[in-house]
Amino acid sequence: MAEPVADICVIGAGAAGLAAGIFAAELQPALRIELLDGATSIGAKILVSGGGRCNVTHDVVTPDDFFGTRHLVRNVLAAFPVQDTVAWFASMGVALKREETGKLFPVTDKARTVLDALMARNRELGVVLRPGHRVASIERRNESEQAGAEDLPRFVIRHQHGETFARHVILATGGQSLPRSGSDGSGYGLARHLGHHVTPTVPALVALMLDEQCFHADLSGLAQEVEIQTLVAGRSVDRRTGSLLWTHFGISGPVVMDASRFWCLAKARGEAVEMVGNFLPGRNAEQAREWFLAHANGNPRRSLLKLLAESLPERYAETLCRHAGGNPQQACAQVPRAIRDRLLTALTQFRFPVVRDRGWNFAEVTAGGIPLEEVNFRTMESKLVPGLYLVGEVLDCDGRIGGFNFQWAWATGRVAGRAAAASLGAGRGR
Ligand code: FDA
Repeated sequence: MAEPVADICVIGAGAAGLAAGIFAAELQPALRIELLDGATSIGAKILVSGGGRCNVTHDVVTPDDFFGTRHLVRNVLAAFPVQDTVAWFASMGVALKREETGKLFPVTDKARTVLDALMARNRELGVVLRPGHRVASIERRNESEQAGAEDLPRFVIRHQHGETFARHVILATGGQSLPRSGSDGSGYGLARHLGHHVTPTVPALVALMLDEQCFHADLSGLAQEVEIQTLVAGRSVDRRTGSLLWTHFGISGPVVMDASRFWCLAKARGEAVEMVGNFLPGRNAEQAREWFLAHANGNPRRSLLKLLAESLPERYAETLCRHAGGNPQQACAQVPRAIRDRLLTALTQFRFPVVRDRGWNFAEVTAGGIPLEEVNFRTMESKLVPGLYLVGEVLDCDGRIGGFNFQWAWATGRVAGRAAAASLGAGRGR
């Protein structure tokens, strides 16, 4: 049975909730802090993150790595810089190492190390972890019941095992990605019920499925550099270069995952959206033509495939030749102009026939959520509901791939945990 009264009740014991519990308890050890989570075992998403290794944060974190109201993101990030995150994990016995990409992982290469440390630190500080406590509603208590008694709990939290009364609530329910982990989007309903808005939510950091007529399945497993531009109603909304991974269903890899939010958001709004790839990043169509002609004139008997394979993976070059109607073994000087032009267009302006995203079960994060404008960035306290704090992915802020989403969770958790504890004051708890 749950203890009925908490000074601070954190709803959701994912990355942000676990961080909030620790920082609140460190500041005010006497407070009664409870972490309720609907899942029967805590931290499923941390355990699967980073391919089971947990990409805890990134070497360099800037507001440009996030999509969300820029100045608010900047202020929150400034409250908990990366070096503080690294020191914080070290203080819990988790040493981090930097990989070439700038991503930071635990030296053990095990996400379990991260989760165990966060849970152990919460327990050491006396924070009560309650798995199997799915929250169905959060109600504000009638103001008149509280007249002259500011220490009385302001919230009633109804969950699977009854009710918990709380003076402060930290909502850390995450988004909708990987619903089987417990993050099924129910937190948005809890926030709405308390008067918050929720901007439309779509999968982000998600792979994209291509029309099955496309050649992607032939290239399954191949990774290559590409520049991807997303056009909404003909206007470029995003352009980025990085590694694309061809798969049996379509396209994945960091560049696709990062761009996916733009495709998903436009699609959800019913807008015409296109993803265009340039497989010769840095060269436009005209430069690609010049490159081709220079090589064809210099080595006229060289096969089309050999020429293309100088700048592209051979498997891709061969598939693309056939896609453009060309013969990969034909001498490049003899390739008919129409085929050459088709080939160059496919190389530099390839319109990916995206049919849909891979869905919530495969998305790493959620784009959309509770607007950042509805929280005070100095405390993460709701501007609409005093005593309610909002942290992590439930907010309308998503980061690119590379450890940025966890950094957001740690930073918002820290700000809210400390602010909630500070406002309750020393010695007012148990
Ligand atoms: P999170 O989703 O972690 O936690 C929310 C918690 O609330 C859950 O435990 C859930 O059970 C609970 N909950 C929800 N509704 C509830 C209710 N009504 N009542 C009670 N409890 C409720 N990021 C990164 O930076 N590096 C990485 O390596 C990865 N890798 C990665 C891989 C995969 C497969 C996924 C799906 C995601 C990632 N991410 C990532 C993203 C990262 O995991 C994510 O951004 C954070 O976990 C978000 O932390 P939160 O605490 O906000 O939500």
